[in-house]
Amino acid sequence: MNILETLQNSNMLPDIYRKMTREEMELRVLELKARYGKKLFIPGHHYQKDEVIQFADAIGDSLKLAQISAENTEAEFIVFCGVHFMAETADILTSNHQKVFLPDMRAGCSMADMADIYQTERAWVRLQEIFGDTILPLTYVNSTAAIKAFVGTFGGATVTSSNAESMVKWAFSQKERILFLPDQHLGRNTAVNLGVCQDEMAVWDPNNEILEYSGDPLKIKVILWKGHCSVHENFTVRNIADIRSRNPEMKIIVHPECRREVVELSDEAGSTSFIIDMIEKAESGSSWAIGTEMNLVSRLIKNHPDKNIISLNPHMCPCLTMNRIDLPHLVWCLESLESGKNHNIIEVSKDIALNAKMALEKMLNI
Ligand code: 13P
Ligand code: SF4
Repeated sequence: MNILETLQNSNMLPDIYRKMTREEMELRVLELKARYGKKLFIPGHHYQKDEVIQFADAIGDSLKLAQISAENTEAEFIVFCGVHFMAETADILTSNHQKVFLPDMRAGCSMADMADIYQTERAWVRLQEIFGDTILPLTYVNSTAAIKAFVGTFGGATVTSSNAESMVKWAFSQKERILFLPDQHLGRNTAVNLGVCQDEMAVWDPNNEILEYSGDPLKIKVILWKGHCSVHENFTVRNIADIRSRNPEMKIIVHPECRREVVELSDEAGSTSFIIDMIEKAESGSSWAIGTEMNLVSRLIKNHPDKNIISLNPHMCPCLTMNRIDLPHLVWCLESLESGKNHNIIEVSKDIALNAKMALEKMLNI
């Protein structure tokens, strides 16, 4: 392949899209949407930019978007405005004739990258040596398809932040212990809400391959994978103390990907949808500091001018990978459907998809 062909086949945004005006790009998206009709479906996660979300056919948190993908049998092209693991989930849950695209292949998730399949397989062997066949694996959907497949193979399921409690409850009806991948904070916050004590939880450090725990290992009920979200970890106890001292009336609401101590000091904690519902139902004139991704916080500020809303962290917390999906990438991706180039296609291999689907369907059915 010569250099020109290499460039043409690469997943980099061609320059022409950077030079277009916003109006021109918006017009192109509208034209393409009209031309494709129901053959094209654009799901968008709440953390996406306004310039993209305005074109979404459905907006949701990761649970809703997974449900929608499972239900949608009509669209031939699904252009997923979210991050890589969400597009993989859509590909797993849709039929063979449906193709899933991610407008920018660099839109990953740093948390999902914190658990790779080789680390997970090694951890599993070690944990089986310690605990025997007493563990059920659960994975947050923010994980690779290979991790979902691993979990499905061993009888476990996926969870999202909005159903984590019911999924952990279910897991305890199956086995004595759970391994929760890859977000230690969501795992810990959920288990605490269900009455599990902190001294019944251990942390698996995948880099050093050790179980962080002091005490009798037989007391352990929850093994937390040592991963986290680099966006939600930016909300701190210090941020909460600042708000409390400057504005004691202000309510603090955070996502459960925040650290335990931050969740404990907040007034409310819950998934993306929970946060949106809470703000929608809040009294006019009420004040809120929100600990979640900045595009969503900005949208809530814009949509609720009658409420006083700020980000819990004054320095903002955008998810850089979610932000990679922008208008130029969306136009490029949609235009590539016409040319049949099929770059930016998300295709999970059949054997992985089969087992990952078992884990996802367990969640969707519970
Ligand atoms: P939700 O499950 O609340 O949509 O969260 C997804 C996510 O990536 C949060 O960081
Ligand atoms: Fe991943 Fe965190 Fe971004 Fe969500 S906000 S996609 S968990 S990095």
